[in-house]
Amino acid sequence: MTRLSGITPSGHIQLGNHLGAIRRWAAEGKPEDLYFVSDLHAMTTSHNPARLRSLAGEQLAVLIASGISPDRVFVQSDIARELGALTWILECTCSYGEAARMIQFKEKSKGQAGVRLSLLTYPVLMAADILLTGASEVPVGEDQRQHVELARTLARRFNTTYGEVFTMPEAVLPPSGARVRDLADPTRKMSKSNQDSAGVVFVLDEPDQIRRKIKRAVTDGLSVPAYEPEERPGLANLLEILAACTGGDPAGIAAEHKSYGALKEATAEAVVETLRPLREGANALLKDPAELDRVRKAGAARAAERGEHRLQSALRLIGAG
Ligand code: AMP
Ligand code: TRP
Repeated sequence: MTRLSGITPSGHIQLGNHLGAIRRWAAEGKPEDLYFVSDLHAMTTSHNPARLRSLAGEQLAVLIASGISPDRVFVQSDIARELGALTWILECTCSYGEAARMIQFKEKSKGQAGVRLSLLTYPVLMAADILLTGASEVPVGEDQRQHVELARTLARRFNTTYGEVFTMPEAVLPPSGARVRDLADPTRKMSKSNQDSAGVVFVLDEPDQIRRKIKRAVTDGLSVPAYEPEERPGLANLLEILAACTGGDPAGIAAEHKSYGALKEATAEAVVETLRPLREGANALLKDPAELDRVRKAGAARAAERGEHRLQSALRLIGAG
């Protein structure tokens, strides 16, 4: 059972990424698992090359500081040649209709001029990420489930048409309700690509920035804390964040706090302490580019080596080389 997952450097890593995904990757990781920064996926819509490079390095540092072993991380573009080759093979295994049916493509391309072809083909690159490394379990959010399904379809089709090469992957979804919402607008999820970052706590935010954002979190006109996710989503979000950081349960935590002020203070301190080792660890790594570069090169070599025999077999079976 090998796990693989990626995080796209479309913005700075935020609290929801940590609580909903990365910290589980770190806790559940086995020696053969792989986690990567999917920088090639951050080019499917308008992007800035210098910002992308900087975000990719930052995300790699955050993954390591989160407790994922440096032996299990890599940056996607460092194995661009292998992935590019496999993507082409898989594109020759995928119909146009299958790609055009992807919900994310439909949503992101709707009403847009100059849609990049890569926005359509990006799930095939994602299939290549998964199939190259032979991952059997793919931890992702609900929005990526359809893409993992496509990877399964392509693996099955290739294996039955040309010969057995690929492992059948399976999506591993987080427990339901494990969603951190935006502090300024609790109707939407906290996201690293939100234009307005007032309601987004970034993992590398300074403690005072975190305290300020949580203090200003939108709640409701009531004054006594209670856990009512439907009626009081802003407050429920704070309770869920505090519970996720301290290990308690949201309803019990609500009963322990007499006022919104006290609850916000407790939440802010819990988030500051949860993120402290990440911020300190990532900043230390970012100050040591030689070490980060060494980890990056070793990770790329490991990931490429892991996939080499599958790529060679796939090329041979499909009639190339
Ligand atoms: P994304 O930032 O959408 O690329 O997501 C990367 C990973 O973080 C996925 O596994 C998501 O499910 C998880 N994630 C992103 N935002 C949140 C959030 N607000 N709450 C919980 N998990 C999240
Ligand atoms: N597309 C995923 C996202 O936006 C990230 C990703 C890229 C990924 N390649 C992957 C996740 C392979 C799992 C496996 O969240």
